[in-house]
Amino acid sequence: MHTENFVLVDKKQAHSWYLQRLEHNFHQPVDYRYKNIEEGEIIFKVIKNISCTLQIKKVSQPTYSKNTKTMMLSRPRRNRQAAAHRAMLRENRLSLDHLVYPLFLTDGNNQKVEVTSLPGNYRWSLDQLLPELEECMELGLRSFILFPAVDEALKDKVATYGSNPDNYYLNYAAEIKKRFPEACLISDVAMDPYSSDGHDGYVEKGKILNDKTLPILAKMAVAQAQAGFDILGPSDMMDGRVGYIRTALDAAGFTDTGILSYTAKYASAFYGPFRDALDSAPKAGDKKTYQMDPANKREALREALLDYEEGADYMMVKPALNYLDVIHLLRENFELPIAAYHVSGECAMLIAACQNGWLEFEKAMPETLLSIHRAGANIILTYFAKAYARMVKEGKLA
Ligand code: PBG
Repeated sequence: MHTENFVLVDKKQAHSWYLQRLEHNFHQPVDYRYKNIEEGEIIFKVIKNISCTLQIKKVSQPTYSKNTKTMMLSRPRRNRQAAAHRAMLRENRLSLDHLVYPLFLTDGNNQKVEVTSLPGNYRWSLDQLLPELEECMELGLRSFILFPAVDEALKDKVATYGSNPDNYYLNYAAEIKKRFPEACLISDVAMDPYSSDGHDGYVEKGKILNDKTLPILAKMAVAQAQAGFDILGPSDMMDGRVGYIRTALDAAGFTDTGILSYTAKYASAFYGPFRDALDSAPKAGDKKTYQMDPANKREALREALLDYEEGADYMMVKPALNYLDVIHLLRENFELPIAAYHVSGECAMLIAACQNGWLEFEKAMPETLLSIHRAGANIILTYFAKAYARMVKEGKLA
């Protein structure tokens, strides 16, 4: 057990009690449970899973003279005076290596169709996409997550087209890997782009049937691995799907194909522009029987534990901004890499405010991405990846 000495200081000015760590002059707010502690008392505290005993000593309260200047020994502003100071002390840095750029695809030729509710994002046909990818790679982006828009006529109840070898999405992935073997391609494993019901699972009499969905997802996953995707992203939220997909991939020899599980995916209002982009909104009902309730946080731990046990390689929280606490929670409790999906609606809000002149894009956007990283995400999926990469290249983020 690890022992630390703390001094109990009465900080009237701050209207609260502080534990002051002797050696470092480090102020830490007292947990409410410790408010009645006495001098000399030994208390126990668990910091990051290490039990500590804290020995409490009372020190005389500093008397604040009228000239508070002489009493203010600790001045946080001192460390913010010059750019070099600030750079030296910066705790988190977002690099392009953390970013994944989502791209919408469409079958055909010479297609680059803007998504109205997500300006600056397009449905790409392969001929248009390849130069776009080249430009992104030159800017330093290497990871892409791809989503297919599928013709209504190809949709059915069992998402047959999802694992059809003629599926254009699979063929695009194979072509992209041929042209850019160094690119990291992430897929979407879910029925909704291919389902005539617009749901992520198999629908029978208005119900989403979990166990009938699993083999469909596994078949889709194996087809995607075969096409050359490096990482598969099950976004469906069916129970047991990570283990089911992992087993199918291993049986087919794809032991090196990773699984980026949408671990805590919430039934959020912020997916609207994405569903516009893919025409994938549910035809009836909503996704609340499989996606998580936005009110829940502890439940994310339960989902995470299952994904961990089932062999997920990455855990994702989605959306990102409204769920920074969940990102932090998983980061603190699991050693797997944590991803966050900065979803379409979250990006659209910022774009809209900037178009109105209410926010400045080049300031608000990097601050937003940094906040997701600071909360604990190693990997950020964001529609702003290219804009961020451009700012890096132009030296605007030094
Ligand atoms: C569906 C899926 C969705 C998103 C990614 N995969 C939408 C949904 O669950 O309805 C949303 C991503 C975004 O909004 O950017 N499998």
